[in-house]
Amino acid sequence: MNEEQRLESQKVENANSSDKKSAKDYSKYFESVVTAPSLKDAKQRGKEEVKYHNDFAIPEEFRGMGNGRKFYIRTYGCQMNEHDTEVMAGIFMALGYEPTDRTEEAHVILLNTCAIRENAENKVFGELGHLKHLKVEKPDLLIGVCGCMSQEESVVNKILKTYNQVDMIFGTHNIHRLPNILKEAYMSKEMVIEVWSKEGDVIENLPKVRRGNIKGWVNIMYGCDKFCTYCIVPYTRGKERSRRKEEIIHEVRQLAAQGYQEITLLGQNVNAYGKDFDDSSYRLGDLMDELRMIDIPRIRFTTSHPRDFDDHLIEVLAKGGNLMNHIHLPVQSGSTEVLKIMARKYTREQYLELVRKIRVAIPDVALTTDIIVGYPNETEEQFEETMSLYQEVGFEAAYTYIYSPREGTPAAKMEDNVPLEVKKERLQRLNALVNESSADALKKYQDQIVEVLVEGASKNNPDVLAGYTNKSKLVNFVGPKTAIGKIVKVKITQTKTWSLNGDMIEEFEPAGVN
Ligand code: SAH
Ligand code: SF4
Ligand code: F3S
Repeated sequence: MNEEQRLESQKVENANSSDKKSAKDYSKYFESVVTAPSLKDAKQRGKEEVKYHNDFAIPEEFRGMGNGRKFYIRTYGCQMNEHDTEVMAGIFMALGYEPTDRTEEAHVILLNTCAIRENAENKVFGELGHLKHLKVEKPDLLIGVCGCMSQEESVVNKILKTYNQVDMIFGTHNIHRLPNILKEAYMSKEMVIEVWSKEGDVIENLPKVRRGNIKGWVNIMYGCDKFCTYCIVPYTRGKERSRRKEEIIHEVRQLAAQGYQEITLLGQNVNAYGKDFDDSSYRLGDLMDELRMIDIPRIRFTTSHPRDFDDHLIEVLAKGGNLMNHIHLPVQSGSTEVLKIMARKYTREQYLELVRKIRVAIPDVALTTDIIVGYPNETEEQFEETMSLYQEVGFEAAYTYIYSPREGTPAAKMEDNVPLEVKKERLQRLNALVNESSADALKKYQDQIVEVLVEGASKNNPDVLAGYTNKSKLVNFVGPKTAIGKIVKVKITQTKTWSLNGDMIEEFEPAGVN
């Protein structure tokens, strides 16, 4: 029997077994397989130097593991997760698996999860419930849970107790271990749990299969050290670790050479880029100043924290060219008192001052934001300050959320004392303002000509094309399919609350570097 047949037979055998022991029981036998998460450990910020590795390779023993098998990954949460999914897809393909977009066809299903709010988590538990019948029909199917929820012990315990259909749980720091985890899952009777709470080193050369060939994500840093009191991310993603500039520049150059039209630099707090380098004062402004020289039409970044948004970065962004004039700058609240309890480390006035500086340097900038309503102790007056700040800044769009307590964070220990009805009512009022502001911002485009990077057919109408402007406005328009992947000029004929309609007037080549 060769390795593959052995794995195959064990897989069937194991999947028929329903007596999964708890992680604790199992660790008595095979400690290495069970590494359970700990939010307490995840909170630690060690001083150890981050090591960079360029030597990732799929060991010989795993090659061909996926031959004749298909994988399916469902992604929840932010762009970081989207990009992690591209890396996991790369690993699967390197192992010989093929992708599928149908769960019924898959031999491995992964849920790449998000822990940011309770409803994000509930979606995943709901999906696990739906997947149960597939496991019954196809006992050799492997179901895995990865991403931010895996980093929480409460989630792992709940899965162990209630979701027997899960075969493997692995964390955000264990992605490069996917081949080993899959192998363990095929061979083991037990649920394989491998979640490191302490972040690992930076591994540079993981394989990737990008979802499209027009827009690409490029990580510039991992983790977050801000510890806003409501937020689980610093626990699920570990300490801030910046990638070396050479690696980033190389990756962007490669994408440009492959014909990508737009790249988005990713990090939970991109303007903390470089703060963890002992040996250099190189920051996001410096990086953007180098990247803008690369011949790629559009460069964006997300997400930026107001605290670290320095003057040099503003100065560089003001140079324009391929640096897009849209900045997503989460404010969370317009009340200095609430911001203080959130540990955002800026006041309303400081935020407004930053906006003023950005607008002076980049008059034609579009600003968007994130806002949380119903924070513990948030009063009506404090909420009104958020409403007034929204108008004062003139945001063009926002993601708005009701506060959701996250176990293990400081805010979860505060009394969640704004009644749900009040939270919902505040969210409604805020959303009305957000919609109205967006519609107003879009009205200005009537009869204007905009540049649109065409991504493909519109979601609602296959005969219509869709893409985004420099300022990230969605445009639906009639044009030839040959325009897909190009930047074209569109004349706006109708403006709506969240999108623009128009007609393509001509195709043109991007101007390139200027
Ligand atoms: N790093 C980014 C935010 C990532 S999370 C930043 O600091 O800007 C995306 C958004 O989710 C946050 O901006 C915040 O508005 C929201 N969010 C985070 N934790 C939340 C919680 N516990 N309840 C409700 N919304 C939350
Ligand atoms: Fe969360 Fe704050 Fe870090 Fe953003 S900056 S990821 S909100 S802790
Ligand atoms: Fe969610 Fe994790 Fe991103 S909690 S928002 S997937 S970093």
